[in-house]
Amino acid sequence: MNQDELKALVGRAALDVVVPGTVVGVGTGSTVNCFIDALATIKGSIVGAVSSSVASTQRLQAHGIRVLDANEVARIPVYIDGADEIDHQGCMVKGGGAALTREKIVADLAERFVCIADHSKRVAVMGRFPLPVEVIPMAAAQVARRFAAAYGGVATVRAGSNGPVTTDNGNLLLDVRGLQITDPLAMETEINQWPGVVTVGIFARHRARLCLLGTPAGVQRLSFD
Ligand code: A5P
Repeated sequence: MNQDELKALVGRAALDVVVPGTVVGVGTGSTVNCFIDALATIKGSIVGAVSSSVASTQRLQAHGIRVLDANEVARIPVYIDGADEIDHQGCMVKGGGAALTREKIVADLAERFVCIADHSKRVAVMGRFPLPVEVIPMAAAQVARRFAAAYGGVATVRAGSNGPVTTDNGNLLLDVRGLQITDPLAMETEINQWPGVVTVGIFARHRARLCLLGTPAGVQRLSFD
């Protein structure tokens, strides 16, 4: 199976963790797109979804799935999302799709984060994938200097075809290379304190409790409880 087929496999497998009669938290990215397409087949059994990006909202609505505002929902049983990297504790690097802030907000509403990913995302130590950090635009240079001083990381502003990438929240993204994320919780906690940082793409406080990992042998269930 190629990577796209593995993503489709775990997208379908995630239907098993959807709780009927509830609101589902929905992440962002190509793996989640597979999940959304699968969710459409059981849309009558859920109340609706809370979405983590404009892109996911549009895809959900195109399937006729009701999207609720996060402010309307106090608690959801499960949040389903992909990852750019996931380690042996269920900690993740996320934000390759620029949706990290809303992803963390929806994850915070959820009792359980279920990660869906192909096996290329599983790593021993995170940091090979450039760490995404959403920043207030006027703080970008100072946050980049802090990464260099504190961790020896090299931060660059993410660029698209028409200039810097802007998030759904109107901010910039830094991608930080050269990191070894050996203590994800400590690093997330530290970087969250830096003025101008909106969200760091380390998900340690909101780590996955279950990962449905797509492998050539099928879906592997990794539990991190
Ligand atoms: C979106 O901002 C990200 O956090 C995605 O969850 C992550 O990049 C995984 O995306 P893919 O499923 O497209 O690899």
